[in-house]
Amino acid sequence: MAKVEVKALTKRYSDVVALDGVSLHAESGELISLLGPSGCGKSTTLRCLAGFLSPDSGDINVDGQSIVATPSNRRDFGVVFQNYALFPHMTVAENVGYGLLFRKIPKSGHRPRIDSALRMVRLTGLADRLPKALSGGQQQRVALARALVIEPRLLLLDEPLANLDARLRDEVRWLIREVQQQSGMTAFYVTHDQAEAMAISDKVAVMKSGRVAQFATPREIYQRPSERYVADFTGEANFLAAKVVDGSSGAFRVEVSGRTLDVRGIASLKAGDRAELLLRPESLGLVADDEPPTALFRGTVSKAAFLGASQHCEVALATGGMLKLAVPPNTFISIGQHVGISVDLDHAWLMPEVKP
Ligand SMILES: Nc1ncnc2c1ncn2[C@@H]1O[C@H](COP(=O)(O)OP(=O)(O)OP(=O)(O)O)[C@@H](O)[C@H]1O
Ligand SMILES: [Mg+2]
Repeated sequence: MAKVEVKALTKRYSDVVALDGVSLHAESGELISLLGPSGCGKSTTLRCLAGFLSPDSGDINVDGQSIVATPSNRRDFGVVFQNYALFPHMTVAENVGYGLLFRKIPKSGHRPRIDSALRMVRLTGLADRLPKALSGGQQQRVALARALVIEPRLLLLDEPLANLDARLRDEVRWLIREVQQQSGMTAFYVTHDQAEAMAISDKVAVMKSGRVAQFATPREIYQRPSERYVADFTGEANFLAAKVVDGSSGAFRVEVSGRTLDVRGIASLKAGDRAELLLRPESLGLVADDEPPTALFRGTVSKAAFLGASQHCEVALATGGMLKLAVPPNTFISIGQHVGISVDLDHAWLMPEVKP
């Protein structure tokens, strides 16, 4: 259990600025995801936490103490990477117990700890197998057990599921969350998969070019993103150009596609500002096109796809532009159909316009 504060980390690799002032924190027992596209600095941040890299400036505190000068093998952190590199000639139990060999733990205490770690990741019974006789998901669970066996103060995971197929990813993801919550361990989890980050995290740091664009709960980053970049990265999104006509402190009246709407949004916006209105596909509904005032917008269906649990469609608006919708699977949709679009305004969100 550990409270962690990462303060204004910077790191350069010759002329590449990998970290440009990364700050975030974890309360004891929280799982924090670092989410963002390739090259945004997720692994660099995690390596600084693990002690495999030294930041150029900034600090990392664990339970109030700076750890940046502590060598990685004295930090007592469990680390799991994407390429989990089990020792091929060692059994599962030997692989898991490897980390114990370098600690002051009496030999007689090893086996109970190994068994307990294997139980946590549900591999009891496979202790004597060699890695080559395990599936990918089982191998990844051995890597997780190897990190857990030392009862780390902090668990660090860098894309631990990247080698697994979608189904296994789902299964091991839930297992990681379950083990982390049961043991009350603080954890940092690197991923570029927004669904994965949202599903298992207490908070998500959405990273952009070596900085944290937003650090908040999964619900906040999805429903109240700080900027368009975050909205785009956390799921399907529609953005409509808007003009603020009135309002302050997060409640605004705006003009959008010839309509005047009352919406919530980023508090710093003010009357006269140009802005963008975020409408998630599931906050839009299809209604008859002659059904004012429910039909806020009108248009023509240009694309439709049946996905089982829902249908996705695109509507070309009469006023120009296009909206993506997610509607219930049994709603009738056909290409070319004239439709009205209703909007759940409680779930619309106004953000500053992106400057080119
Ligand atoms: N050893 C290195 N030498 C030079 N540049 C590096 C080195 N390691 C990383 N970088 C650069 O630093 C930046 C951040 O890299 P980092 O590995 O942290 O990204 P990431 O967010 O983990 O990306 P990915 O999702 O691809 O793993 C990138 O521009 C990368 O090219
Ligand atoms: Mg990486």
